[in-house]
Amino acid sequence: MDSIGRNHRLETAAADLVDNSIDAAATHVLIRFVVARGKVQSLYVVDNGLGIAPDKIDDAMTAGVRRDYDPTELGHFGLGLKAASFSQAGSLTVISRANGSPPVGRRWLASKARESFECDVVGEEFCAREFRRRWRFFDLTIGTIIRWDDIQAFPNVRDEDATSRFITDATTRLEKHLGLVFHRFLEDERIKIGIQTEFGQAGGVGLTAEVKPLDPFGYPRSGAGGYPQSLHAQIDGRAVDVVCHVWPGRSQLPQFRLPGGSPERFQGFYFYRRDRLLQAGGWNNVEVKRRDLQLGRAAIDLDDLLIESNVFRMNPEKSRVETGHEFSRALARARGESGGDLRSYFADAQSAFKQANQRRRARAQVAPLGRGVPPRLRRAVRHELTALPGQEDVDIRWRRLRGDAFFDIDRESGTIWLNAKYRSAVLGDRPSTFNDAPLLKTLVYLLAENLFHGSWLGPKDRDNIDLWQALLTAAAKEEAS
Ligand SMILES: Nc1ncnc2c1ncn2[C@@H]1O[C@H](COP(=O)(O)OP(=O)(O)OP(=O)(O)O)[C@@H](O)[C@H]1O
Ligand SMILES: [Mg+2]
Repeated sequence: MDSIGRNHRLETAAADLVDNSIDAAATHVLIRFVVARGKVQSLYVVDNGLGIAPDKIDDAMTAGVRRDYDPTELGHFGLGLKAASFSQAGSLTVISRANGSPPVGRRWLASKARESFECDVVGEEFCAREFRRRWRFFDLTIGTIIRWDDIQAFPNVRDEDATSRFITDATTRLEKHLGLVFHRFLEDERIKIGIQTEFGQAGGVGLTAEVKPLDPFGYPRSGAGGYPQSLHAQIDGRAVDVVCHVWPGRSQLPQFRLPGGSPERFQGFYFYRRDRLLQAGGWNNVEVKRRDLQLGRAAIDLDDLLIESNVFRMNPEKSRVETGHEFSRALARARGESGGDLRSYFADAQSAFKQANQRRRARAQVAPLGRGVPPRLRRAVRHELTALPGQEDVDIRWRRLRGDAFFDIDRESGTIWLNAKYRSAVLGDRPSTFNDAPLLKTLVYLLAENLFHGSWLGPKDRDNIDLWQALLTAAAKEEAS
């Protein structure tokens, strides 16, 4: 268990517990950090699944007891709960209630687990109390509560600011990792996962962040014609489909960027077992990761016959799939319906990447988008377009303008003023904020940005301003009427 634990991170360990919740037919899983006395004291993973019956809980706590698994279940090794928990925490408490049984509980300390399989029985009153806590994300009548104490991933000094930074960071990592690993389950709402923080004895609980699916193939349109394309491989006498995708270039979508790092990191194979993602990228020695292959991602669904075939092996943390030589040989022979193969796929992904970059270089330089829109949008503009050297930003803001004119170009201050007269008509029910109406502001920016280049406005520019003013003012009046 020590050696398995070494490869876990908080988010991969949490995914292991979510696996168990899914196997127990839970519809909701809640992850809750508990802060007391300025530190993270414990972490809960609570589900409303079928629970563990009193006569099964000792098996559940034992390392390596493999049940008979249904063909859809995610469990496989009989280790996940224990290895994941002790990779993160010094103490693991499992409290569970199955239909028709009282809640039962066991606690196991990492220090003891190294020496023996003996764990402590948790008192009935304590179990009942944990079940009565207000979990908020769902009603808990039957289900399972996993509690970690003495968690290594958090600072053990009493420092509220550091603790809150750690929780924010951990929440983001959990959202991204779980959103990715379970994206197929989250998409069709087989499971909902919430993350929240409880502060102190007083029991205040912060907002629940709901994990959103991150589909690593969720691009708006393919980056290359003819894709996605399935390559049919024969592995160990069985048919395996490798579904090859090409992302559009330089995407800023979270499902392309995935959990941070460079976009190059997530090219490669995405192995799934029973809809759960086992590996997010990496070419498994078939190719190396290269900058110009960053748009290539290929999905492979593995069933258990393949996993047991020795061509594929999932690691005990379920975060990677090892492949044997037969895999690369089979891939080299794999063909698509229209004759494509792995080489042509790589070539297509590379040329999509090159084209996307050439397009960017060919674009005219601009005055960057400044204040008045959300920072994310400013970043997107910076990513798509190159700024003119030394050019000031263009801000887009609301102000009461004299008369009915929709906008005013203020080159002095580098601002496009929108007439506040029309603000509520544009916003409808939404509140007015500094960064409101991003769609309108972006359109106005794209239209008028080039008026801020150079030191004077030419006759063509002046005519454009008159034209836009006439039409946009008429349109704004329609919105307001
Ligand atoms: N949240 C849960 N709800 C119901 N039963 C659970 C839950 N968590 C664990 N169990 C029970 O405990 C057993 C052991 O869990 P553990 O994660 O250690 O192994 P596994 O899921 O069987 O296999 P794997 O090592 O592949 O995860 C499970 O098989 C299941 O019967
Ligand atoms: Mg498990």
